[in-house]
Amino acid sequence: MASRGRGVAPFLVILAFLVAQCFHQSTEAKKVTTNLHFFFHDTIGGPDPSAVLVASAVGRTGGPLAAFGNLFVLDDPLREGPEADSPVVGYARGFSMSTSRRSMMFVMGLDYGFTAGPFNGSSFSVFSQNPILDGDRELAVIGGRGKFRMAQGFALLRTHSVNDTSGDAVVEYNVTLFHDE
Ligand SMILES: *[C@@H]1O[C@H](CO)[C@@H](O)[C@H](O)[C@H]1NC(C)=O
Ligand SMILES: *[C@@H]1O[C@H](CO)[C@@H](O)[C@H](O)[C@H]1NC(C)=O
Ligand SMILES: *[C@@H]1O[C@H](CO)[C@@H](O)[C@H](O)[C@H]1NC(C)=O
Repeated sequence: MASRGRGVAPFLVILAFLVAQCFHQSTEAKKVTTNLHFFFHDTIGGPDPSAVLVASAVGRTGGPLAAFGNLFVLDDPLREGPEADSPVVGYARGFSMSTSRRSMMFVMGLDYGFTAGPFNGSSFSVFSQNPILDGDRELAVIGGRGKFRMAQGFALLRTHSVNDTSGDAVVEYNVTLFHDE
């Protein structure tokens, strides 16, 4: 009996390893790639702004919009095109804060939630710096919900237009997401 037991033990160890491997593989979801294109409409001026200043550095209120320490809350519509009446496909909601003492730099923490099309009800999340005066810039995508669960990726941005009086801006986005199937 004893010699038979010794012969079976290595086989059992290998079997246990194979079972563990199969289980590990079956729990690892497949990743798919999704590309998104839209325009982010940021309205600071007028009676119904989509971005509002909620805080400034103590003792420094009333300075330029991008003064170091300024914190904005955003509810910016995402539209198919750059025109103000282009169909809305979602909203970018969260905050944007001026975080550089030397250049025009914001750090944005935003949830880009879709309200139309195949990704209605899903969103991806960004937490990244955004040097808004640069021509082309890249934001890091750090997560997602719904169809974009477990998303990672990046967004390529280019400012389409800025109103120098109001600060209103339209920004073009190309987003690449890697997420669960
Ligand atoms: C998006 O989803 C919501 C919630 O399920 C639904 O009420 C709405 O009609 C959908 N919108 C479009 C444009 O499909
Ligand atoms: C987005 O992709 C389109 C098609 O490749 C390209 O024409 C456009 O310049 C890109 N825009 C940005 C901001 O990357
Ligand atoms: C720019 O903003 C100002 C102030 O809100 C507004 O009066 C003007 O019409 C805007 N210009 C354009 C081209 O939209």
